[in-house]
Amino acid sequence: MEYILSPSLLACDFKCAGEDIAKIDKAGAQWVHIDVMDGVFVPNISFGMPVIKSFRSATKRFFDVHLMIIEPERYIKDFKDAGADLICFHVEATGQVQETIDLIHEVGCQAAIAIKPGTLIEEVLPYLEQVEMVLVMTVEPGFGGQKYITECTDKVRELRAICNARGLDTHIQVDGGVDASNVSVPVEAGANVIVAGSAVFKGDIEGNVKAIMEQFPKAN
Ligand code: DX5
Ligand code: ZN
Repeated sequence: MEYILSPSLLACDFKCAGEDIAKIDKAGAQWVHIDVMDGVFVPNISFGMPVIKSFRSATKRFFDVHLMIIEPERYIKDFKDAGADLICFHVEATGQVQETIDLIHEVGCQAAIAIKPGTLIEEVLPYLEQVEMVLVMTVEPGFGGQKYITECTDKVRELRAICNARGLDTHIQVDGGVDASNVSVPVEAGANVIVAGSAVFKGDIEGNVKAIMEQFPKAN
């Protein structure tokens, strides 16, 4: 299995985002995680398309765009045009899960569905064959710098077992409260795409990226 680090730019220094992005690039993080918040689905507002476009001009890395917005189907084409490679939306945020997955694929992006800590994995099981990734939130979405909710690890383990039983190599992503000291917990449970915000951007960015990636199982 391929293990991927996707640093969350929510925690970067926006006045020099280009420099921070260059550092995560140089240290070897494969993806970039981009958190879009609308102040409705979550009690916080982050940024939208113009900011993503400016990030896009700073790197060629894979953009993993995590939409924490209601009715994400309204903006799929706009996020694609802003530079998204993968678009992830919450099953709790729309009554049109199937249509949204289809729309994401139609615009040429990979599709992912996310669940909050209180949402059961049963909500995503009907769509497993159709998405490239499932995001299991390990904090309540809305803010960086929160503590990893240990109970969410079981959902990762169950999902990986179900994917394996169905012969699927779907990416399973965890997001929230992950750092070098606990990343082995979700990884051992079956997560292979790791988001980290504050654990990457606080202090020595390149050193932080390497410290987290060193914990990934080595390919043999
Ligand atoms: C939270 C966001 C996360 C956040 C993670 O709603 O989805 O991506 O930036 O931040 P840390 O790694 O600091 O918990
Ligand atoms: Zn996120």
